[in-house]
Amino acid sequence: MASEKVVSYEQFMEHQQRENLWILLSGKVYDVSKFLDEHPGGEEVIVAEAGKDATESFEDVGHSDEARDLLKGMLVGTFDGGDKLKSAPAPAAKPTHHSAPAGGSPSPIAFLIPVACLGAYFAYRYYGA
Ligand code: HEM
Repeated sequence: MASEKVVSYEQFMEHQQRENLWILLSGKVYDVSKFLDEHPGGEEVIVAEAGKDATESFEDVGHSDEARDLLKGMLVGTFDGGDKLKSAPAPAAKPTHHSAPAGGSPSPIAFLIPVACLGAYFAYRYYGA
């Protein structure tokens, strides 16, 4: 195998655009720019891993040996940024976490007011008649 390049944190961070994208898997840096279009799992899931350690997401999916073989062709080098990526906030826009729709349970008061009104209306009708 060709001698491996060492990739610094700064170099890694310079390659975080969709058309020029490096991701980190198990301490190795891979250039996935050309692969994005071909990824069977869609490009968004890989783009979401930009600027961070993608190892866990990659392993969670249970990628096949075939998928792991593809990685060899994309290898840039060994990551030398220590655990910076784990502590630094990911700079890439991630569509997760933030946009949770308001789904909290409504206040019981909000439910009781119309019920009370309805009750009052029928009471009025009943006793008023
Ligand atoms: C350069 C890195 C990657 C390569 C080479 C790769 C390759 C592949 C390949 C070949 C498949 C087809 C199934 C298989 O053979 O396992 C696949 C499926 C998939 N990948 Fe990746 N993948 C990469 C990174 C990622 C990342 C970072 C995620 C993040 C979550 C991801 C999520 C998925 C998902 C969800 C599927 C399933 C698609 C489906 O069956 O509907 N992959 N990937």
